[in-house]
Amino acid sequence: MTVKTMQTAEVQDLLEKVAGFNKEGGNERVKTIVHRLMHDVFQIIEDLDVTPDEFWQAVYYVNELGQNGEAALLAPGLGMDKYLDIRLDAEDEQAGLSGGTPRTIEGPLYVAGAPQSEAFARMDDGSDETAEIMILTGQVTDENGQPLANAVVDVWHADRKGAYSYFDQSQSEYNLRRRIVTDENGRYTARSIIPSGYGCPPEGSTQQLLNLLGRHGNRPAHIHFFISKPGFKHLTTQINLAGDAYTYDDFAFATRDELVVDANRIEDHAEAEAYGLNKPFTKVEFNIQLVRTDKSELQSRHERKRALEGEPA
Ligand SMILES: [Fe+2]
Repeated sequence: MTVKTMQTAEVQDLLEKVAGFNKEGGNERVKTIVHRLMHDVFQIIEDLDVTPDEFWQAVYYVNELGQNGEAALLAPGLGMDKYLDIRLDAEDEQAGLSGGTPRTIEGPLYVAGAPQSEAFARMDDGSDETAEIMILTGQVTDENGQPLANAVVDVWHADRKGAYSYFDQSQSEYNLRRRIVTDENGRYTARSIIPSGYGCPPEGSTQQLLNLLGRHGNRPAHIHFFISKPGFKHLTTQINLAGDAYTYDDFAFATRDELVVDANRIEDHAEAEAYGLNKPFTKVEFNIQLVRTDKSELQSRHERKRALEGEPA
């Protein structure tokens, strides 16, 4: 049965009351967004003839999503984080601020206040003795290739199980999370372990919806970065390690060609020794170009709820 009610005065009036248009007070921006949001939801119900059964399934789905704490996981799975990046890229282009290393999504698993060191950091706590050692190194420059000293390279990644410290309480504090300040040549180096990709919790709300879409919930092995330096645009990005089955099939849509980086096995003894190692390791090189700006609001990461953000270090 197809009925059309959206254009009736009754429905239009209902939407205005829902959004509080006939009431003083509240927040105008929220009223505007809620009015539009509910209009579009009503319109979907009409256009797609959504049944009451389907509607209530959706309501209880949202309940469960919140109970599981997965709203920030479903968002990238539905391309929302990627869409915000597309908009930011377009804004940069409009402002003449494009170029440099591309941004990509942050994800929900950053923890503020990781230990900071100069030029080098060891990121893993040594508890995974059989993990493949990773040397992650690179240079931060401006768009002309001039090295940038004193840039802060804030790095975080998962362990071999695909789990992140803090959220995985079995790991030590700030395991696989460090801030490294670049040296006079703009260089940073981290010793860590090769991370694994991971999937959404198999029984969780996100995977439940992905199943209905015929989609998997996997991410390739990747490493997250914030890179900042006063006078330059803050960069939120990540690299995907080449060769992972999901490098180009990331459920969160974070892959960009420029951000796919080789993981090279190094067997050479002398090169291992140069990093203080006595066995083969895997080297990952990621050079970063920052874009100059005098707009202070672009020089720090945008506001968002993050673990331990705003707390004393
Ligand atoms: Fe991640």
